Amino acid sequence: MGERNPLPYGIISRRSLFCLFIAASVMFVLSWFFVLRSAGGPQLAYNSLLSSSDKPSSIFDNGDSRSIDPSTEEESAVPIDDITDKKVDHLGVNKHDRKCYANTDRILKAYMYDLPAEFHFKLLGWNPHGDSVWPDIRTHIPMYPGGLNLQHSIEYWLTLDLLSSEFASSLDGRSAVRVYNSTEADVIFVPFFSSLSYNRYTKRNPHQKLSKNSELQERLVRYVTSQEEWKRSGGRDHVILAHHPNSMLDARMKLWPAMFILADLGRYPPNVANVEKDVIAPYKHLIKSSVNDTLDFDGRPTLLYFQGAIYRKDGGIARQELFYLLKDEKDVHFSFGSVVNDGINKASRGMQASKFCLNIAGDTPSSNRLFDAIASHCIPVIISDEIELPFEDILDYSEFCIFVRTADAVKENFLIDLIRGIGKEEWTRMWRKLMEVERFFEFQYPSKDGDAVQMIWQAISRKVPNFRLKIHRSRRFGSDISGHSAMQVMPKMRIPNNFW
Ligand SMILES: *[C@@H]1O[C@H](CO)[C@@H](O)[C@H](O)[C@H]1NC(C)=O
Ligand SMILES: *[C@@H]1O[C@H](CO)[C@@H](O)[C@H](O)[C@H]1NC(C)=O
Repeated sequence: MGERNPLPYGIISRRSLFCLFIAASVMFVLSWFFVLRSAGGPQLAYNSLLSSSDKPSSIFDNGDSRSIDPSTEEESAVPIDDITDKKVDHLGVNKHDRKCYANTDRILKAYMYDLPAEFHFKLLGWNPHGDSVWPDIRTHIPMYPGGLNLQHSIEYWLTLDLLSSEFASSLDGRSAVRVYNSTEADVIFVPFFSSLSYNRYTKRNPHQKLSKNSELQERLVRYVTSQEEWKRSGGRDHVILAHHPNSMLDARMKLWPAMFILADLGRYPPNVANVEKDVIAPYKHLIKSSVNDTLDFDGRPTLLYFQGAIYRKDGGIARQELFYLLKDEKDVHFSFGSVVNDGINKASRGMQASKFCLNIAGDTPSSNRLFDAIASHCIPVIISDEIELPFEDILDYSEFCIFVRTADAVKENFLIDLIRGIGKEEWTRMWRKLMEVERFFEFQYPSKDGDAVQMIWQAISRKVPNFRLKIHRSRRFGSDISGHSAMQVMPKMRIPNNFW
């Protein structure tokens, strides 16, 4: 018995080795075949995506100096690849001035719902005339209310930028363009000014059942989830603005498959919002930016500056402890109250006269002060363990911010020793970096290449492959996913008591 076994095993293994050899050879040859073929593959797929963009390109025909003139001899003679390449150019991504940010070699195509004006510009006091729900921004740009409202005005700048893309003579420096055919769009933009709605209309009249803010959210959910576009993707390609941490409190529980534009994730359960799905946008800073800043290390007498309320609930306990730890240090300045109440000019002067600016978690992990500090070129010292930062996938904040864990910061002398230990050279390196990155946090109209508006569009673009993957996977066993079926797969969650 013991003799027999080796023989058959030997035969089998010799045979199977032979088979294996043949199979491996075939695979080797095939793999070369595929490698050679796919050398042009991704490019082709990419071009075919873009080539579906005949419609939007026609929007820019008037006035775009680089538009394709189909009558030229050259055009008709070039092979297909080259024509689609020209279209890439035409969409504003000139090969010669390609910027170094990730993924800008493609402009985001955004379809915008024509929501009734009361969801957006009517909140700014503008009244629609005729049958357009949009103001003609070539003649009149409704103003967003000032004061603290402005810090969450991201909704306004993004919407204006999309509206203006229609009239742009060139797409240079633009990262998004409005398209009118939703099947050609990368994302569906929902132009609800939710932060303003929260700030303005949260109070409920005694005779109303719902506040106007809640009512608008309710109507928004009904509008959006009944759209063809929502049903097609289960909402995953929708971009919804919820920058104020308390905005969209009602609607977000129903619109959660969409991508939210947020200030932070502090008040969200992780399945409603997370860094993978959503985009963190900067606050609009309230204090004036320091143009041509010559206030270097020696020009800034205050070592450490803090602006804000000392007593906050929840995550803000560290503020109080830090206050008692630091209040007797002679070159540390505490300024109480909000920037607006305290005088924006005073805050500007304070931050510009300081080497470091303290950012401590308040009610929420994020706060406008970080962006005020950046604008004043005051190196931010961030004490907020849960903070999420805008564009962190392409920005290394450690190059221009100091991060301190809360547990360390409240140890006696830890923070002050750390700060005093940072010398002129290191400080100056961070200060220069701040001046390089500050434009990424600048909101303005018209928006400029690489400012906050364009950076947000680019951040949205980087999420597109993410949700496309999810949409495609969800279509495996059926062509359509409705918002409702998506909602049913939402796991049950418990909302913490202090959620509101
Ligand atoms: C929108 O685009 C799709 C795909 O390119 C096309 O089939 C459809 O006809 C277009 N719809 C309109 C109204 O132009
Ligand atoms: C800042 O410096 C630039 C270039 O030197 C100059 O063009 C600009 O006018 C200056 N701005 C201010 C506000 O001084």
